[in-house]
Amino acid sequence: MSDLVIAIDGPAGAGKSTVAKLLAKDLGLTYLDTGAMYRALALKSKREGYGAGDGGVAAEIGRRSEISFGHGDPQPVYLDGEDVTQAIRTPEISELASALSVFPPVRRVLVERQKALIVQGGVVLEGRDATTVIAPHAQVKVYLTASLEERAKRRTLELESKGLGAEYERVRMEVESRDHRDITRDDSPLVVAPDATLVESAGLTPQQVADKIKALVPAEVSSVNY
Ligand code: DC
Repeated sequence: MSDLVIAIDGPAGAGKSTVAKLLAKDLGLTYLDTGAMYRALALKSKREGYGAGDGGVAAEIGRRSEISFGHGDPQPVYLDGEDVTQAIRTPEISELASALSVFPPVRRVLVERQKALIVQGGVVLEGRDATTVIAPHAQVKVYLTASLEERAKRRTLELESKGLGAEYERVRMEVESRDHRDITRDDSPLVVAPDATLVESAGLTPQQVADKIKALVPAEVSSVNY
């Protein structure tokens, strides 16, 4: 299985990270949360006083930042060695990450690193352009989705469980606005890749979704060159 790459795309709250983590555990793969990299970059940009329109500066900040991952659940995220696992999960950083991800120079910096992280295979990665840009040759490509209401409900519970106050109506509006931006941006928008399998997560447990995806892994996983 060592050269296996599973790429999962989909809108916010579809359950990508939960399912990707289960797949990583079940199949012995490394989990790559590409959204966490946009979030870490957004956090650093905010700390340096920049905002949603500052894509050029954010790309430059990205070039001089080290973003890395540890082991555990939640998977630790480090920004220049600092543990930012919690700090990158606020609604404000969600919004800023989405806004900055529109800028091609920002995407170039992070996509280059993401490609380097998966080059050896043995990875399950998730994001918005995993199946189309980062790993178009992945053996398994999935677009995971659910209705806006379902995803907003899930996000509300997730934020509540972290002690971050969340009101369903507001979360629904935030998710909808992020969806719109992720889908309509010019550079690598969120799309269903022509060769991706569409998986609907509503009504299924994360393990059931993971099992569906596992069934897509080809019996003979051959080498793929990136
Ligand atoms: O997956 P997430 O919610 O943690 O991602 C945060 C934002 O980062 C998302 O709204 C859009 C952006 N993103 C992206 O443009 N491309 C990716 N591969 C992953 C995330």
